[in-house]
Amino acid sequence: MTAPRRPMIAGNWKMNGLKADGRKLASALARRMKKLKKPAFEMLVCPPFPLIGLAGETIRGSGVKLGAQDCHSNASGAHTGDVSPELLKNMGCKYVIVGHSERRTDHNEKDADVKAKAEAALRAGLGAIVCIGETLKQREAGRAMSVNRKQLQGSLPEAANAKNTVIAYEPVWAIGTGKVATPEQAQDVHAVIRKELVNILGEKEAAKMRILYGGSMKPGNAKELLALPDVDGGLIGGAALNADDFWAIAEAAG
Ligand code: PGA
Repeated sequence: MTAPRRPMIAGNWKMNGLKADGRKLASALARRMKKLKKPAFEMLVCPPFPLIGLAGETIRGSGVKLGAQDCHSNASGAHTGDVSPELLKNMGCKYVIVGHSERRTDHNEKDADVKAKAEAALRAGLGAIVCIGETLKQREAGRAMSVNRKQLQGSLPEAANAKNTVIAYEPVWAIGTGKVATPEQAQDVHAVIRKELVNILGEKEAAKMRILYGGSMKPGNAKELLALPDVDGGLIGGAALNADDFWAIAEAAG
């Protein structure tokens, strides 16, 4: 990884845990983070919506940052069950994940929806973590690169820059499956994403923008993945539910 990009280690808790679990996990991370004078990584936890307040209180002042897993594209209104980025910001969130493959599948979100959410996040003053990634079928058909390029083009907010937007490459076949991308597969896609970012944003911004890898990242494979030239951190699901594992991944980044 190139020096000017500070690695981000983001924990996506998905639909896991109850109150006590969230408190325990957040406080274990906060305790460790507080001991670091100058952490080499930016650490983020993204709990389920109802735990955002609790997690925010628990990590306050520790340096661990708060994020959310999704948001609506509107600032307010009649959208039962949805949450606005403005409220997330108000609750202390710094980032919101948009376009996770589970949202794309479970809620039929398309690139245009993801882009609208990412733009709403920026409008509210949040950073957007824009997820893209190919399915196994697409990879086997030799379409991994074109699918990722297309998703990036369609999902990236207009006002994207290296400060307000992070990309997460998550091959769908690696999410929660234990099947991690090889370092070569990950680097190849990350390099293509960076190249496409150059086309869209220009050389300077593209060089500064972080591209995270996600999909079965664990303490045992993190070092190798995080050392790749275009991998600037991780978006971690399963292993983010265990403080020791998540911390070990973060240490592998620093
Ligand atoms: P995983 O999930 O680490 O459990 O594979 C990653 C993600 O979906 O963000």
